[in-house]
Amino acid sequence: MADFAPLKQETHMFEPPASFVKNANISGMDNYRAMCAASERDYEGFWAQHARDHLFWHKPFTKVLNQNDAPFYRWFEDGQLNVSYNCLDRNLQNGNAAKTAIVFEADGGQTTRVSYKELHERVCQFANGLKSLGIRKGDRVVIYMPMSVEGIAAMQACARIGATHSVVFGGFSAKSLQERIIDAGAIAVITADEQVRGGKHLPLKSIVDEALALGGCEHIKHVVVYRRTGANIQLAEGRDKWLHDVLASQSTACEPEWVDAEHPLFILYTSGSTGKPKGVQHSSGGYLLWAALTMKWTFDIKPDDVFWCTADIGWITGHTYIAYGPLAVGATQIVFEGVPTYPNAGRFWDMIQKHKATIFYTAPTAIRSLIKAADADPDVHPKKYDLSSLRLLGSVGEPINPEAWMWYYKNVGNENCPVTDTFWQTESGGHMISPLPGATPMVPGSCTLPLPGIMTAVVDETGQDLPNGQGGILVVKRPWPSMIRTIWGDPERFRKSYFPDELGGKTYLAGDGAVRNEKTGYFTITGRIDDVLNVSGHRMGTMEIESALVANPIVAEAAVVGKPDETTGESICAFVVLKRARPTGDEAKQIAKELRDWVGKEIGPIAKPKEIRFGDNLPKTRSGKIMRRLLRVLAKGDDITQDVSTLENPAILAQLKQAQ
Ligand code: WT7
Repeated sequence: MADFAPLKQETHMFEPPASFVKNANISGMDNYRAMCAASERDYEGFWAQHARDHLFWHKPFTKVLNQNDAPFYRWFEDGQLNVSYNCLDRNLQNGNAAKTAIVFEADGGQTTRVSYKELHERVCQFANGLKSLGIRKGDRVVIYMPMSVEGIAAMQACARIGATHSVVFGGFSAKSLQERIIDAGAIAVITADEQVRGGKHLPLKSIVDEALALGGCEHIKHVVVYRRTGANIQLAEGRDKWLHDVLASQSTACEPEWVDAEHPLFILYTSGSTGKPKGVQHSSGGYLLWAALTMKWTFDIKPDDVFWCTADIGWITGHTYIAYGPLAVGATQIVFEGVPTYPNAGRFWDMIQKHKATIFYTAPTAIRSLIKAADADPDVHPKKYDLSSLRLLGSVGEPINPEAWMWYYKNVGNENCPVTDTFWQTESGGHMISPLPGATPMVPGSCTLPLPGIMTAVVDETGQDLPNGQGGILVVKRPWPSMIRTIWGDPERFRKSYFPDELGGKTYLAGDGAVRNEKTGYFTITGRIDDVLNVSGHRMGTMEIESALVANPIVAEAAVVGKPDETTGESICAFVVLKRARPTGDEAKQIAKELRDWVGKEIGPIAKPKEIRFGDNLPKTRSGKIMRRLLRVLAKGDDITQDVSTLENPAILAQLKQAQ
């Protein structure tokens, strides 16, 4: 477990602008406190009321929370609804039919607008197309798509017919894709011929072909291909079809499949402390409720807003705050195919100006790299653009350092926009701890206070509450509607990972360390307490990367640790022992390159170690356990000042200290 070094904490408070507070959906701290008090007074009543007010139920629920099989909680279990109906049909009934749902900007800059009416038609047609292939409620569909209207429509179409989707991020390799297809037991893959990002083409369809050729995917009956670029691809007879052919004769009306609130809307794989990714399973009712509520609370969404979340649909942020949340509240949103640095690092600012974005939600990594770019080239500095449409900024995915927060606040928000530092996880489904933009005074580097209804706390290893000021383990004391329901196919791992017996079996273990400020009670996240790294906001398990490395025939042993990185937050540093003599000089460089490419093939380019160091051995205890805490110190380039008396082979430290 990591040591909870007290962080240097910012103390200056930034009050939300008075004009913002005046019009906010939740205005002022008294309102926030009243909502928290209401949730504590009658927890189930609080959630039931919101679920009735914010969602359309085909069959109203009578039960709110079933705790009989804790920690397998069930919310609104006798209620029935359809997620796609809530996101689309409701908007046709309430006057939003002609409103723009999506402003899509392609990598090359072409813009397409899709109204709610058109999106509804496209999703219905897509849903009918999936049905024509025999895909039914409960079937699993893997989506391996670029950022596109079609990608969102694919997710919504699955939701419409009750199929459970599993989106795999385009940066994962054929092997990672294959593992997820097998684990989910999917019967179809929806993909594109190519993905285009930053002018570069990535052959998604041929990666799917490669994944399926690896074997074990015989349950895949269909591969549906969206034509993005027209690149030459192979279509396997009987199995593969163009999306436009599947849709050609389909009606643009499709009755939704009403499902139970607990019906699995999607599975999304994420990294944990073992080598195998976890299929995080989410529900329909509870998940959508929180997606919609947090749009209203954290993002203060209003009818005229132009909302822009820069995440990819391959991650949870792209699920909750692109594919579902904005549509569930009838918002207009920007969807972007490309990358922030193409054709230059002013792309985000240019798009905010062009589309008059009012709410902008991005990751600290992106902010930090754009700070660097703006320092180097004044032409891509946000001050060169008209960003006056903005009224709210958000941050997600990793801790935002106070310097980056200040830059974002000043240069992008013109000191006029609240910055919401939203802490949450794939497992939480939506925001957990975040300022309310029209209420909470902000402190750079702190995600501040839990949202109403979210019972977070900082405890010690035995589950005892810790006083403010003392670092400990972040937990959630009561179940909440959008929480993970299970790990697909592995309920025991779900229980052990998130509701460990040491904490009493009913307290949710987030996997992060946290400390609350002595005066304000504000939370600061101190980082993961398990073997999970956060590289550019991408969650990576050290064990996954180690397994990938040792799968290479020349590798005897490998240990992977995170190293603080100015831009990406953390970077991956691997210590490797080869089956042959320790390489040095050019040979070491050559082998390091081969191993990096190997990891790229095994997991995906996002998992390539930035640095690889070779040793004759790894630092181990006498019982053979690798001492990763020492490796973390070495990776940083620091001297070892800790106790090494349990170390079997102290001489190895000097060798591993040198970066190759
Ligand atoms: C982990 C979850 C949140 C959706 C995208 C990432 C870290 C996330 C923050 C934040 C400090 C943060 C945590 C968390 N994290 N947001 N605002 N401040 N840390 O989802 O891939 O499931 O990763 O990201 O360590 O546990 P994810």
